[in-house]
Amino acid sequence: MSSKPSTQPLIELRDVVKVYSTAAGDFPALKGINMQVGAGEFVGVIGKSGAGKSTLLNMITGVDHITSGEVRVDANGSPVSVHSMDEDRIALWRGKTMGVVFQSFQLLPMLTLVENITLPMDLCGNFNPKQSRERALELLRLVEIEEHADKLPAFISGGQQQRVAIARALANDPPILIADEPTGSLDSVTADHIFEVFEHLVTDQGKTIVMVTHDQSLAPRFSRTLRIADGELDTDLVTEADSKPGGRRMK
Ligand SMILES: Nc1ncnc2c1ncn2[C@@H]1O[C@H](COP(=O)(O)OP(=O)(O)O)[C@@H](O)[C@H]1O
Ligand SMILES: [Mg+2]
Repeated sequence: MSSKPSTQPLIELRDVVKVYSTAAGDFPALKGINMQVGAGEFVGVIGKSGAGKSTLLNMITGVDHITSGEVRVDANGSPVSVHSMDEDRIALWRGKTMGVVFQSFQLLPMLTLVENITLPMDLCGNFNPKQSRERALELLRLVEIEEHADKLPAFISGGQQQRVAIARALANDPPILIADEPTGSLDSVTADHIFEVFEHLVTDQGKTIVMVTHDQSLAPRFSRTLRIADGELDTDLVTEADSKPGGRRMK
């Protein structure tokens, strides 16, 4: 596995601009982002609160509209221009291609934890409905929260909901995982465990992960680190210390 993007990037952003229209006027949250992510990379995007991290992920996943530029994803041999698809096609494509962990979890409140995970499986059809509960329980076991499987989200803590959101992102076994501060609500021991789960997904299962965080101390654990500030990637700040071969942590 290489820490450099392969010649055919899995994810490519070209001059991505996102301007939010607010009552106070237009606000440029992303000011022309160019980046590439190769298959098998574990890329960390690090920046302070308000830097544009969540906006960047929303452009990659197609959850929000782009102002200009292009996002291309080539996960199964046929490159897709994410923002050229209509909403229905994006949703279907996203379901098969990327697991998304939102900063605010976004669990469905009227479904139990296990149902929150079987739902995307049943919608996507990658897994036999007879297997989906079993697989969901397996994923809840992976994030160490299986004992709460039949509870509603309101009855577990924020950190526990975050773990369920991670399990849900893995439901359809997507090649790409896009995670927005996925360890932000976790205590340090649990955060460490989740990080190890991510590392194994990259090294053992060949997944590609883009994770954003404001936690500078995580930088050495990614296979590559990008810095974002005021809607711009600061490529000059990508130092040797930030980049290391492989996705495995060195203690
Ligand atoms: N829907 C929105 N409307 C207007 N401004 C927004 C919206 N979403 C985010 N912003 C602004 O864009 C900037 C980047 O936000 P965000 O991507 O959420 O940053 P981060 O995830 O790095 O904390 C912030 O200044 C934020 O206030
Ligand atoms: Mg954010």
